Amino acid sequence: MLNSFYPGEIWPDDHGVHINAHGGGVLFEDGVYYWYGEHRIEGTAGNVAHVGVHVYSSQDLMNWTDRGIAFDIRDGKVPECPDGCIVERPKVLRSLTTGKYVMLFHYEADKKYRNAAVGFAVSDTPIGPFVFHHIQRPNPGVWPVNTPDALKDAALIAKTRETMADVSGGMNDKAPTLSILGACFESGQESRDMTLFRDDDGKTYHIYSSERNATTHIAQMTDDLLGYAGNYCRVFENRWMEGQAIFKHNGKYYIVASGCTGWAPNAARSAVADNIFGPWRELGNPAVGPEAEVTFRGQTNFALSLPDGRVILMLDRWNPQNAIDGRYLWLPVEFDGERPIIRPPAPWQL
Ligand code: GAL
Repeated sequence: MLNSFYPGEIWPDDHGVHINAHGGGVLFEDGVYYWYGEHRIEGTAGNVAHVGVHVYSSQDLMNWTDRGIAFDIRDGKVPECPDGCIVERPKVLRSLTTGKYVMLFHYEADKKYRNAAVGFAVSDTPIGPFVFHHIQRPNPGVWPVNTPDALKDAALIAKTRETMADVSGGMNDKAPTLSILGACFESGQESRDMTLFRDDDGKTYHIYSSERNATTHIAQMTDDLLGYAGNYCRVFENRWMEGQAIFKHNGKYYIVASGCTGWAPNAARSAVADNIFGPWRELGNPAVGPEAEVTFRGQTNFALSLPDGRVILMLDRWNPQNAIDGRYLWLPVEFDGERPIIRPPAPWQL
């Protein structure tokens, strides 16, 4: 039995095997926590999907029982998700209207990362099996509530369509001069790194890196969690954020995210807002102390809010040379005034 968190160490499950749930998220229901994440295999082959989404359960957040593959793409079971596709950053919530468990994940047909779409899968139980439902991009045919007029300009959109194939998903000078938003108006908006958030009023939001990762979107979902309510907003324009984690504290909304440097770590950012659609005010890197500038070699992944109000920030310490050996940094969030703080990884107790 584990009595502490050991961030960055091997984290054994009930079989003594390192937990295999990377880039994931946690659902809490009826006293049980469910941890969903990317199942990764050994070596560099593990940087793409071969298995699906693994789920573990726990009542104390330290000792986790392996509940198997919740969303299984092995052996061509899901034709849309062939071997070597991308199934990243899975998050699960239960629809308050249908009672179904719905998993959203970042979907790509292959490692070129050009689909920039969301996969949906549905289950009657929290541990699955999650059945593939559909793939889409958020909000086709709908402008965000705060669209600058310049991004609706037909000539700019036409120019963007001609040139955007050359614009990478990494930080670049070109994306801010185009209207990726407008070029994706019909197809739906690009969605890569992502998370889900349920607000106190029961509304659910999908937060995702869009516009070639340059700008984050926050989109309200339909109550069945299978689509978009048509109400969304652009935030952190041209700030290239990924790994978005969101939580509420003292009535305010907080986002902690990484910059955009692939598997390599960078300095995290944090921001606060009174309303989920903003305006958001950036508060800087929440990491303090040694290796803060690379967020302790971790990338933010999910903010786990406990019933008593405390927040655990979950980060991945990726190992792209041996993906299965990626480590987890679960760190308690402290506050310095309104600024969230995380301290260097060391064993800790709840
Ligand atoms: C990271 C992203 C990961 C994964 C990776 C692929 O920036 O946060 O989820 O997509 O890039 O290189």
